[in-house]
Amino acid sequence: MPDSELYELTERYRPEFPIFRLATYLNSCSLGALSGRSRAALMEFADLWDRRGASAWYERWLGACDELRGAFARLVGADASETALAPSISAALSSIVSAIDFGVRPKVVTTDLDFPTVIYQFLARRDLGVEVMVLRSPDGVSVPLESFAEALDERTALVATSHVYFTTGAIQDVAGLARLAHEQGALCLIDAYQSTGQLPVDARELGVDFLLSGALKWLLGGAGLAYVYVRGRLIEGLKPTAVSWFGVENQFGFDPNAFELRGDARRFELGTPAVPTVYTALAGLELVEEIGVERIRRRVSSLTEHLLERAVAAGFAVRGAADPEERSGIVMIEHREPAAAVQRLMDAGVIVDHRPGAVRISPHFYNTTEDSEKAIRILVG
Ligand SMILES: Cc1ncc(COP(=O)(O)O)c(C=O)c1O
Repeated sequence: MPDSELYELTERYRPEFPIFRLATYLNSCSLGALSGRSRAALMEFADLWDRRGASAWYERWLGACDELRGAFARLVGADASETALAPSISAALSSIVSAIDFGVRPKVVTTDLDFPTVIYQFLARRDLGVEVMVLRSPDGVSVPLESFAEALDERTALVATSHVYFTTGAIQDVAGLARLAHEQGALCLIDAYQSTGQLPVDARELGVDFLLSGALKWLLGGAGLAYVYVRGRLIEGLKPTAVSWFGVENQFGFDPNAFELRGDARRFELGTPAVPTVYTALAGLELVEEIGVERIRRRVSSLTEHLLERAVAAGFAVRGAADPEERSGIVMIEHREPAAAVQRLMDAGVIVDHRPGAVRISPHFYNTTEDSEKAIRILVG
């Protein structure tokens, strides 16, 4: 697809995001921008709450939860029965990890580039015998597949890592990782929070056992909901001990003595979901589906490469994968005082973020090359 067509995509969809009337927004890996559609959906939720009160649960809200599970399933090439909603990635992890038997296989392999909440799940269980192996990235950008191959063995229960590293934007070879894990009889859990919505993700094709994401970032749905995929064949054998009434058969039987986990991935659900976010998240997924993730990937790649080029030309060092195929829409520009630089950008109407030692800029399909150029201009000072 030529660049002009990708630019037309931006031109068409950018007006749906009012923030661009006020600011240059380049921070989608923290929080996707609010669209007019999500705002309207939020108002629809409020109207129903106002007019129908609790009857909205049965008339609309439970159905909207189903729609959302279905929309996430389509996004990641799964069946709706393999998906569940959770309050956050952390909550989803706690339910999943509670179903894993670490008795014979006490080891978990993860990396020092993963989001801490993933690693904490296992560190918190060290007293229960869980052994955590945190692989060190040799270059601070990614972890070679060979390091995982060396670490995985017959004592490993799980490899838990990211599709896209939040610290560097580097894309991991998840299919290769799942293959390595399975060769050793281990399970593969992928934190795909930073990939779904900006990269095509097919959970079955990747061969992973668990895949987690959420509404907040590239999926443009706001705060309060995470998405869970569990490989269908595994579900029956996984019995979480972190449970809720949303995860049992006959939820509305209200029988305290009848504890029977649901037969689908919803056995991992942890209570009442954030319904306002169900509405905003549905609108976000609708946008992503309408545009198509393949097209989003091409647009974000083109913006990323342009941004990197401009940053380097302005004399900055950038932290990221050497191979463009392994780069995503998270650009780390090294900086001695990133917090002050981000504040300076903010004062000039450019919203970005920082992580230790770097300014983090993350363009989505609604951004333009002019947005990036403005950010670099201000960064140069
Ligand atoms: C890759 C990744 N995983 C997990 C999280 C945290 O997820 P939650 O707050 O839903 O537990 C974040 C948050 O920014 C993230 O970037």
